[in-house]
Amino acid sequence: DFGSDLDIRNLVDWIQSGNKAKKIMVLSGAGVSVAAGIPDFRTPGTGLYDNLQKYNLPYPQAVFDVSFYRSQPQPFVTLAKELWPGLTHSPTLTHSFLKMLSDKGLLLRLYSQNIDGLEYLAGIPDEKLVECHGHFRSASCIECGTTADPESVKNTIIKDVTVPKCDKCGGNVKPDIVFFGESLPDRFHQMLRTDVEEADLLLVMGTSLQVAPVSMIPDMVRCEHRVLFNREPVMKIRTGKDLFLPGNCDDQVMELCSILGWKQDLLEENAK
Ligand code: OAD
Repeated sequence: DFGSDLDIRNLVDWIQSGNKAKKIMVLSGAGVSVAAGIPDFRTPGTGLYDNLQKYNLPYPQAVFDVSFYRSQPQPFVTLAKELWPGLTHSPTLTHSFLKMLSDKGLLLRLYSQNIDGLEYLAGIPDEKLVECHGHFRSASCIECGTTADPESVKNTIIKDVTVPKCDKCGGNVKPDIVFFGESLPDRFHQMLRTDVEEADLLLVMGTSLQVAPVSMIPDMVRCEHRVLFNREPVMKIRTGKDLFLPGNCDDQVMELCSILGWKQDLLEENAK
């Protein structure tokens, strides 16, 4: 037992002990990609939801709302062209740290809410990743669910900047990212059921925990200790059980890796 004052050295101890943290579950959000130059959603001023004026939305989240997309698809189409994962952004130190956890056999699963594809670019294996809010690699009709050809959907959005239509029913097609009003991928529910039982440590990184059901994960895990990497204390920090590492996650990851003796490896991993 570590008493009431957990610090980053306790986290190092758990990882180095070889048995206290060998199935690490990670829950990530937009904050882990901010250092790559991708704004998050809710940070006042810089977050995406404060910068959608040109779309004349009734409320910012409407751009990701399935019923809004049914009647007014153009704002999302225009935004999707800008957000489409490409090769302009590189994985951050935090992504590289998660890849290292995976390489060392310490990562149980990464639950990412992000749709920027940086986990993939960092080389985190598919099997270790749960894309809670979907991805841009496939697309389907919001009315009948028929899958659409991903390449032609991409072209329609990126080149024509118009809404892709379903061949079968004429409904609006969108990439398979999860909108408000839609359910999360089956894989999310399937993996979560056993992962919350098996995880021996939870890292929560760069998420405001404002969106359900992902926001419930910190309360679902059975493990004793949880570590929050965030600019703000977005969850209740239980004395003696949870550790809050405030500030930019890359800085805390660097500090952690320095103490672990992983700093050189981290920098090399990130330079790949
Ligand atoms: P948010 O923008 O809601 O939260 C990002 C969190 O990361 C905030 O608490 C920031 O303070 C923190 N943060 C920002 N930069 C950071 C940094 N460099 N280091 C550490 N923390 C940092 O983003 P999410 O929680 O990911 O859904 O948002 C959840 C979902 O809401 C998204 O997946 C998206 C959105 O609507 C869909 O689009 C379906």
